[in-house]
Amino acid sequence: MPVTALLGPADLPRAAALLRAGELVAFPTETVYGLGANARDARAVAAVFAAKGRPSFNPLISHFSEAGAAFAEVAADGRARELATLFWPGPLTLVLPRRPDSRIDLLTGAGLPTLAVRVPAHPLARELLRLAGVPVAAPSANRSGQVSPTTAAHVLAGLEGRVAAVLDGGPCLVGVESTVLDLSGPVATLLRPGGVSREALEAVVGPVAVGGATAGEAARPSPGMLLSHYAPGLPVRLDARCVAANEALLAFGPPLPGAGAVWQLSEGGDVVEAASRLFAGLRWLDEEGARRGLHGIAAMPVPEAGLGAAINDRLTRAAAPR
Ligand code: TXA
Ligand code: MG
Repeated sequence: MPVTALLGPADLPRAAALLRAGELVAFPTETVYGLGANARDARAVAAVFAAKGRPSFNPLISHFSEAGAAFAEVAADGRARELATLFWPGPLTLVLPRRPDSRIDLLTGAGLPTLAVRVPAHPLARELLRLAGVPVAAPSANRSGQVSPTTAAHVLAGLEGRVAAVLDGGPCLVGVESTVLDLSGPVATLLRPGGVSREALEAVVGPVAVGGATAGEAARPSPGMLLSHYAPGLPVRLDARCVAANEALLAFGPPLPGAGAVWQLSEGGDVVEAASRLFAGLRWLDEEGARRGLHGIAAMPVPEAGLGAAINDRLTRAAAPR
């Protein structure tokens, strides 16, 4: 098992360099510890899902050192700019339309046309983000199904040996996750209650709708489970053992011969590499397939081990009748 370095404030440049190099670094925010990865680097983001042991690809929040950097990736309207002025840095996450020229990796947003962005308030987080100079995708730094960590010791208990480093900034002050507010449509919608209250938001943007049960995240399906997730226009055929000339092929390992177009997930059969190329691949096959008049996408089998489970979960939903 690789060794996880325990870093302090003096090691911030090293932590930032690790992030830029595509390594995973857990870091403190004012809410909970985040499991950070360069949000522009598909391999790094796939490694986040692998380290967490997540069985599906939930969209991740991209963290920035300042609002200007966040709004270079998403289209912010007046409501978003006002909330950012009042609550950033702080425990508020805004879901906004992704800019067409955004270079945040597709896997970070799980293929959605929106992105969740936030500027955390913790001084170490801000300095780390500033030094890294890239947006940092970060879910809570716990294994899937465990509670969110609020100390470096909690992080190590779950992720020791699975991340390059943990930056110790002491206990988190807020202790609950950020509030997630969806501003991608005309009605502001609360997706997750958190560190900023609904009342505080409503004082600024007026009435806020509540997306699903107010009881919390567990009570409603996460966006990762919804069909609003990127779904290809072409029908998907699973577990393909052969492929027709009028089909596009999503290959895993040596490609089946005869397809009209091929996207290779991982020539060598590496599921982490495959995860990093999945959303880009579905999109490309869809566009290329339409351009060449193909009738569907044939997906070669991917083993269930590790991130294979999350890949198969996504493909199964892409193949479900709509
Ligand atoms: O306080 C926090 O927000 C912590 C710290 C590390 O910043 N992060 C965190 O991340 O709680 P995570 O991955 O555990 O939760 C992210 C939430 C999920 O509920 C996810 O579904 C939602 O944000 N989310 C992310 N992108 C979204 C999008 N494009 N549309 C809707 N919801 C989104
Ligand atoms: Mg979480």
